[in-house]
Amino acid sequence: MTVTLEAPNTAGERLARPHQYLMCPPEHFTVEYAINPWMDTDQPCDVSLALRQWQRLRDIYQELGHTVRIIEPLPQLPDMVFAANGGLVIGGRALAARFAYPQRADEGPAYLAWLRAAGFPAKQAVQVNEGEGDFLVVGGRVLAGTGFRTDPKAHAEVAEYFGLPVVSLELVNPRFYHLDTALAVLDDRTVAYYPEAFSAASRSVLRELYPDAVLAGAKDAMVFGLNAVSDGRNVVLAEKAVNLAEQLRERGFHPIGVDLSELLKAGGSAKCCTLEVRS
Ligand code: ARG
Repeated sequence: MTVTLEAPNTAGERLARPHQYLMCPPEHFTVEYAINPWMDTDQPCDVSLALRQWQRLRDIYQELGHTVRIIEPLPQLPDMVFAANGGLVIGGRALAARFAYPQRADEGPAYLAWLRAAGFPAKQAVQVNEGEGDFLVVGGRVLAGTGFRTDPKAHAEVAEYFGLPVVSLELVNPRFYHLDTALAVLDDRTVAYYPEAFSAASRSVLRELYPDAVLAGAKDAMVFGLNAVSDGRNVVLAEKAVNLAEQLRERGFHPIGVDLSELLKAGGSAKCCTLEVRS
C-alpha cells in the first residue's frame, strides 16, 4: 500500500489531517473486575461523570473537524468504552480483537459486527490481539506490543493480514500493559514514549527507529499522558501530563488537555477510548 508521510509544511507548522474515530459511550462503565494494576474493585465509580468526561473528549474531536462514529455499548461489558481495543483498521480492512481475558471476550464479536455493518471487510483475529491497544500505525509501519496482552503470534498475523511490516516491542511494567499506555504516535514519523516501560532490547529498537522521539518521564507516563491521540498537529492527552504537553509544544504540536479521571480507574485514557478507522 502507498503511504503519505506527514511533515511540517514549509512555514514549519505542523499539519492536522482529518481522522475518523470509533467511540463507545461508557453507559455501563464500572470497575467490577481487576485485570490490570489500575483497577481496584473497591473504588466507587461515577457513571455520569465518566459519561460527561467522555462526551468532552468526543466534542473535542468534533471541534477539531474529525468524524466520530459510535458503537452501541453492551451491558455486562464495562470496559467496552475502550474502543481502541476493539480492532485494527488499515486501508479499509479490519481485524477485530480477540481478548486475553474472558471478562472482555464478548467485545471481540461486538466490534466485528460493527465493522462489518460499517462495510469493512473484517474477520476476528485468530491469536490473542487487543487491537489498537497493542498495535500502533506509524506511517507505513505497525508497532506491536506484547508482554501482557497481545500474543507475539498476533504480530505475525497482523503483518500477514495487512501486508505491512510489524515491529515487535516488549512491555515489562504491568502498569503499562498495552503499547498505547507507553507510546503515542504523533505523526507518520514521530512518536513519544516512556523508555522504562520497555525491555532493554525494545528500547534499542525504538532508539534506532526514532532517534528524534519525544521521551516522556515517569510523572507524565503515570497519569497516562502517552495514551494520546494526535492528528499530526493537535495532540489530545491527559491534562495532568503537563511536562509532556510542554515537550510537545516545543516540537510544534498543539497539546489539548482532557480530564478522564473516571476512566483512569479502569486503566484507560484518551487513546484507549478511540479506535482509528482508516478507510
Ligand atoms: N480495563 C481495561 C483493560 O484492562 C482498560 C483498557 C485500556 N485500553 C487501552 N487501549 N489501553 O483491558
